[in-house]
Amino acid sequence: MRVLIVGGGGREHAIAVSVAKSPRVEKIYCAPGNAGIGQVAECVPIGAMEFDKLVAFAREKAIDFTIVGMDDPLVGGLVDEMEAAGIRTFGPRKNAAILEGSKAFSKDLMKKYHIPTAAYERFDDAKEAIRYLEEKDSYPIVLKADGLALGKGVLICNTREEAFEGVKTIMEDKKFGSAGNRIVIEEFMTGREVSVLSFVDGKTIRIMTSAQDHKRAKDGDQGLNTGGMGTFSPSPFYTKEVDDFCRKYIYQATVDAMAAEGRPFKGVIFFGLMLTPDGPRVLEYNARFGDPEAQVVLPRMKNDILEVMEACVDGTLDQVELEFEDNAAVCVVLASDGYPVSYEKGFPIEGLERFENREGYYCFHAGTKLENGSIVTNGGRVLGVTAKGETLREARANAYAAAEWVSFQNKYMRHDIGRAIDEA
Ligand code: AMP
Ligand code: GLY
Repeated sequence: MRVLIVGGGGREHAIAVSVAKSPRVEKIYCAPGNAGIGQVAECVPIGAMEFDKLVAFAREKAIDFTIVGMDDPLVGGLVDEMEAAGIRTFGPRKNAAILEGSKAFSKDLMKKYHIPTAAYERFDDAKEAIRYLEEKDSYPIVLKADGLALGKGVLICNTREEAFEGVKTIMEDKKFGSAGNRIVIEEFMTGREVSVLSFVDGKTIRIMTSAQDHKRAKDGDQGLNTGGMGTFSPSPFYTKEVDDFCRKYIYQATVDAMAAEGRPFKGVIFFGLMLTPDGPRVLEYNARFGDPEAQVVLPRMKNDILEVMEACVDGTLDQVELEFEDNAAVCVVLASDGYPVSYEKGFPIEGLERFENREGYYCFHAGTKLENGSIVTNGGRVLGVTAKGETLREARANAYAAAEWVSFQNKYMRHDIGRAIDEA
């Protein structure tokens, strides 16, 4: 098979490494890719939102299967365009990717189908949102821009004044652009967060092993929200009891709800869950693998990823059982100091060769590029160093040891990824 992967971050590198293991693969292309992906695929300089160029490229190279890794092209309808051109593509169509693309849609869906989530109201008008907040007297409260906002469109407001300010930021100043034309105001929940990824073929859902992300920039969950500073898998807090509850009330219910709405979902549903004192609740859905969740989940998957993805497209996932290794993985993100606000790029990266032929160790590239024959930093999140271990503790020790193998100027990482497992 000739495969095209759309995207260029650590998640797409993890996908590419998994795809490359499939005996059915003849050639992998990635658009736009990055320097690390370039070691397993041929990178082509086409942006993920350049749909016409992507379709033309896929035709010209006789691509058999396309995998869309990122949210923006999914929500924008790349899968529909590929399919219209006769190219089999993994990922939800536009009418299903709305599960991630609109928080108002996903909240309404959960309400209609009784899927456990935080209570909420939605507003298209800032004045009405303010009026609602004037009557609310329990804070904190959570404001969410309806549309895609690079994972940054959620504001947790501790006082009414902060909430007023938040409504202004989202709906009037349009900090997140048109994503803020509509807002969801949601009850604040407490508990531990867990990410659960799944494969879905429109009817059947298969759950992958659990993971947990660390979204804040600094140790101790301080600092600003980022795309994710590290992950571990499995989550020791994702117990059998939690799993039973989610299977009964959340996973299949979501797939059935989408089908009932005439929006059958094929691809990956990412369930962002909060384990509240009243039981698991859905915080959000994503319509794709998490980044950096993919970097700890995929290395532990035993299945041929292409077989599973084809089953999703063909509607035969009921014939597939997922298998994961009985071990653990930790991913530590090496970022550029200053991320997520401002940072410098273009510094050479040393030591990458130390990952070659090291079983159980991976260096996934997020923001890197090839410049005059050497690999340089090219983003806020630069690398994701993943290591496996028999236990989470061992995996964490291995990942932090491997994080020292590479160096670049302004290298920054959190030192407490996976520390939460000590409390389990
Ligand atoms: P989301 O993009 O919806 O996952 O929100 C980003 C982050 O905001 C989540 O990972 C949570 O840490 C936090 N968050 C979102 N919704 C709530 C809520 N209702 N209560 C408490 N925290 C929340
Ligand atoms: N790591 C969270 C996300 O991919 O949205």
